[in-house]
Amino acid sequence: MHEFRFKNNRLYCENVAVEAVARRFGTPLYVYSYRTFVVHFRKLKAAFRAVRPLICYSVKANSNLAILRVLVREGAGLDIVSGGELYRALKAGCPPQRIVYASVGKTDAEIEEAIRRGILFFNVESLPELENINRIAGRLRKKTDVALRINPDVEPKTHRYITTGKLTNKFGIDFRTAKKILMLGQALTHVRIRGIHIHIGSQITIGEPFVEAIKKVVAFIAAMKARGIAVEYLNIGGGLGIIYKNEKPQTAVEFARKVLPVLRKSGLKIIMEPGRFIIGSAAVLVTKVLYIKKTPLKKFVIVDAGMNDLIRPSLYDAHHRIVPLAARSGQSEKADVVGPICESGDFFAKARRLPKVREGEYLAVMSAGAYGFSMASNYNSRRRPAEILVRGSSVTVIRRRESFEDLIRNEGR
Ligand code: LLP
Repeated sequence: MHEFRFKNNRLYCENVAVEAVARRFGTPLYVYSYRTFVVHFRKLKAAFRAVRPLICYSVKANSNLAILRVLVREGAGLDIVSGGELYRALKAGCPPQRIVYASVGKTDAEIEEAIRRGILFFNVESLPELENINRIAGRLRKKTDVALRINPDVEPKTHRYITTGKLTNKFGIDFRTAKKILMLGQALTHVRIRGIHIHIGSQITIGEPFVEAIKKVVAFIAAMKARGIAVEYLNIGGGLGIIYKNEKPQTAVEFARKVLPVLRKSGLKIIMEPGRFIIGSAAVLVTKVLYIKKTPLKKFVIVDAGMNDLIRPSLYDAHHRIVPLAARSGQSEKADVVGPICESGDFFAKARRLPKVREGEYLAVMSAGAYGFSMASNYNSRRRPAEILVRGSSVTVIRRRESFEDLIRNEGR
């Protein structure tokens, strides 16, 4: 479900013609639909109401403050992975007790700041990290809560770069080690191990890997309880897939139907960390066609957005639908849609069938809300794009386009 629709052959975001926004603010431009991500958040919340989970939106998917504020106001917590994301989370007004903090490489400074602020949990990824948190909390004369991130060794059937729950991945702790840590944890004086966390990967379109992973950890938690070591929380991570091409991802309700029975039976307090499911389909990247270049072998549609604005096709061979803002029937042609960056990997689509497009017209790269702007860079000294939030008929700049001055801001005179 999303709120980008054609009316009279023009692409609209809610009640606003996307082309009007593109003309007003220039391109490349991220355009977000408020209603789309709020509805996704609410759908997930409703589907899981039987266990009343804390839904910690994963900030890395899209960390714009305006978006975080809206979700926090809706009752979301936040899943963070760095001091920078903690800073954003607090700026967005997120109560610290709704913040969970994962990452295999938390620095001392990051740990200290998170302890001082009183976040809900660190999701701990190794024994050395746990000992470090214990040491820092001790120095601050505090006791801090943690969850152990377990690596359940399941195959999530997604891109290898975004698979995180296999033992060959750097994430989480295997069951044997986790058992040892839980037993040892009793002796650590400045941490309380209050939960178990998993996150098996991203863009997962089927329920089975989640069910398999959850069953494994629930059994583990029960076995530990039998030995007198109990935890209260289970964080099932994020990873729910969305439609980019012709995927048939599970809806929130279908997902809930599969995992709720296990979750309810466990009696644990549930946390989840969706990113893409909430924000993925809530934005388009609007770009203008600069040139049509024909070579003896190919047709290139050269646009003004590049891999620095949206890296997913270059990095993961990810498919994003591309549509002209002005729909039309008639001839289509195969073309490569490429950016202006000096790399052959700078493309949005290869050999894609598109309506015949003209120089100067606008295209929308669809489903660009998650890992779009948040992975954007200044490569080739390109200014990162502006971000626009549409709500009904209202249009707000939630990040202005960077200036040339922004590019050199930290480089002295
Ligand atoms: N929790 C943890 C611990 C994570 O590492 C992630 C994402 C999430 C939650 C949110 O996952 P989601 O619900 O969005 O799938 N850049 C890649 C995706 C990387 C995902 C990293 N971790 C992409 O563009 O596909």
